[in-house]
Amino acid sequence: MARTALVTGGSRGIGAAISKALQNEGYTVAATYAGNDEAAAKFTEETGIKTYKWNAADYDASKEGIAKVEAELGPIDVVVANAGITRDAPFHKMTPQQWKEVVDTNLTGVFNTVHPVWPGMRERGFGRIVVISSINGQKGQFGQVNYAATKAGDLGIVKSLAQEGAAKGITANAICPGYIATDMVMAVPEKVREAIIGQIPTGRLGEPEEIARCVVFLASDDAGFVNGSTITANGGQFFV
Ligand code: CAA
Repeated sequence: MARTALVTGGSRGIGAAISKALQNEGYTVAATYAGNDEAAAKFTEETGIKTYKWNAADYDASKEGIAKVEAELGPIDVVVANAGITRDAPFHKMTPQQWKEVVDTNLTGVFNTVHPVWPGMRERGFGRIVVISSINGQKGQFGQVNYAATKAGDLGIVKSLAQEGAAKGITANAICPGYIATDMVMAVPEKVREAIIGQIPTGRLGEPEEIARCVVFLASDDAGFVNGSTITANGGQFFV
């Protein structure tokens, strides 16, 4: 029977590429989104992938939404915690609200997404957790104290889950994308973006599909011995 995969923030950007790549591999995919109904409807129309609306920052909404997905599509075998936001500002201008929104979505959102599926994965003896972190969680970034903190925190989540899940057939891994051609990166002021591209040895932004292919590998049976790791996919911009 086809495995079921849940991709948060799965109807746009990197998440959409992940949803489509998993579908191509034969998974039954559920893609969540927080607000953009139009993009989600278009995505479903184009791909046939079901979309579900809830805010990853809200635990109760996540739990309820995940129960609905499992009732409709079956137990979730693969979770891709991809939903993320930016609220960039230099630290001296960053507001507590900008801090909180990013922490709630990018860090607590991972807890909210994984926690409800964890008991089922433990019972069934199989699970794949893939968390989309960021190059900026590894190296920090001017204007992203909030975002970098959450993305570094995501790596701590993965390394701990890897140890807790291993005996139950569950792996947890992270991917740290560099700068990928998505709306999020295109929202960076052009001059700043051009300067960043100048720091990428490959000389270009990454493509969402280049991240999706990493997810497909980590979700596969072949990746059973890969646990607690971080795949760095950033065009050579930064090495850990
Ligand atoms: N390094 C050093 N100094 C910098 C700088 C940098 N990277 N960026 C800006 N500055 C300096 C400016 O030159 C300016 O200096 P002066 O005051 O001496 O002129 C000072 O910082 C303040 O700059 P601004 O007044 O322009 O600050 P701002 O309030 O407009 O905010 C910013 C600037 C929001 C941080 C903007 O520079 C920015 O958006 N930077 C991009 C941050 C970034 O890379 N975000 C990633 C988004 S994509 C993503 O997150 C996906 C992923 O995982 C990779």
